[in-house]
Amino acid sequence: MEQGIDKILLTEEQIQTRVRELGAILTAEYADKNPVIVGVLKGVVVFYADMLRQIKAPCQIDFMWISSYKGTESSGMTVRQDITADIRGRHVLILEDIYDTGNSLTFTVEHLLAKGPASLKICTLLDKPERRKPGITLQADYVGFTIPNEFVVGYGLDYNEQYRNLPYVGILKPEVYQK
Ligand code: IMP
Ligand code: MG
Repeated sequence: MEQGIDKILLTEEQIQTRVRELGAILTAEYADKNPVIVGVLKGVVVFYADMLRQIKAPCQIDFMWISSYKGTESSGMTVRQDITADIRGRHVLILEDIYDTGNSLTFTVEHLLAKGPASLKICTLLDKPERRKPGITLQADYVGFTIPNEFVVGYGLDYNEQYRNLPYVGILKPEVYQK
């Protein structure tokens, strides 16, 4: 196991099995809809590439990159890079790495809904419901795995931009982030 990883939470095989299951469901859902599949960068890249190849229906790909900022009075999210497709009247599927406090996903959904899609659904690899901020009621339509309240890395997820290339999802040793 890589340095800094305490234990493996989801093996490469478990993830790939679940990706194929979700792919079959999404293939049926979007068979005649030619969806625009929007990935939220950067954490989603690995899940996105695997998921995309399991959605066996005509589709279009796009990405957006959002980041959080801290203002003087409040903290919020901002769009660093928007999608390029015109999604008015289109079926949109958001792919996310993890649904944590809900800030990012809520912001992303509001931003995309303002563009007038015909439908908007969310597929997230991981869901950490214990971390949800009070007042956030948004539900993910498709969830890969519901996980406990632990900081995880790998399969696209990072700590300080490291560990994204691991093929599994692992729990980080606390001493790594307590340093
Ligand atoms: P939010 O708190 O739901 O807005 O999630 C914001 C972002 O924090 C996610 O898209 C991830 O990039 C990151 N994040 C949340 N939890 C974890 C984790 O356990 N490991 C790595 N990144 C995380
Ligand atoms: Mg992210």
